[in-house]
Amino acid sequence: MKNSKITRKITQGMYVLTTPNGGCMVDAVSQVSAGDNPLISVAVMKKNFTNECMNNGKIFALSVLGEEVNPEIIKTFGFNSMRDINKFEKVKTTEVMGVKVVNDSLGYIICEIVDKIENDTHTLFIGKMIEGDVTNDKSPMSYGYYQEHKDELLKVTTTNGQTAWVCTICGYVYYGEMLPDGFLCPICKMDASHFEKKN
Ligand SMILES: Cc1cc2nc3c(=O)[nH]c(=O)nc-3n(C[C@H](O)[C@H](O)[C@H](O)COP(=O)(O)O)c2cc1C
Repeated sequence: MKNSKITRKITQGMYVLTTPNGGCMVDAVSQVSAGDNPLISVAVMKKNFTNECMNNGKIFALSVLGEEVNPEIIKTFGFNSMRDINKFEKVKTTEVMGVKVVNDSLGYIICEIVDKIENDTHTLFIGKMIEGDVTNDKSPMSYGYYQEHKDELLKVTTTNGQTAWVCTICGYVYYGEMLPDGFLCPICKMDASHFEKKN
């Protein structure tokens, strides 16, 4: 492949996907039909706790993040698993139709799951939108914007003499002079070739 980063030019947004019992950051969201109750797809990695929640439930919410979102929300939902921490204790939310939506967002979409497609690594869930609201009219954050600004958003600092390795796929930061042998990103499972060194 000459340069797979061309996929970053596919305009995707930044969302917090929530279910009654879990949630994670997602960018792999698409509107697949129009009308009063459009279909919305979201691809969720099978290893994510959120995938289990989606499979065990009928409803999900997408909170649309703006460019001025507090980056702690991205870190909380994107770099941690609900298996280890309660993400809802760290981020302010409001309950809508039984699902928590993020207050620091531009609004939310509530969907009922109507279909799913499995592949090796992900499940593509398709939901019918049953509720939605716009709570803030500022600019949404695109996944491309996140990729371009992730160093400053995630405050990748190497000032204390540490070398930082940043995953170019999801933004996870590993601090250390060298990446360990056989290192895989704990978030997106990409290998060392996808990490950029900052020092
Ligand atoms: C910017 C960003 C975008 C992400 N996009 C997706 C995505 O589209 N689908 C997905 O399954 N995980 C995505 N992730 C990874 C999950 O948010 C992450 O693995 C999370 O820790 C899973 O938490 P859970 O185990 O509580 O479900 C993304 C992470 C980041 C930081």
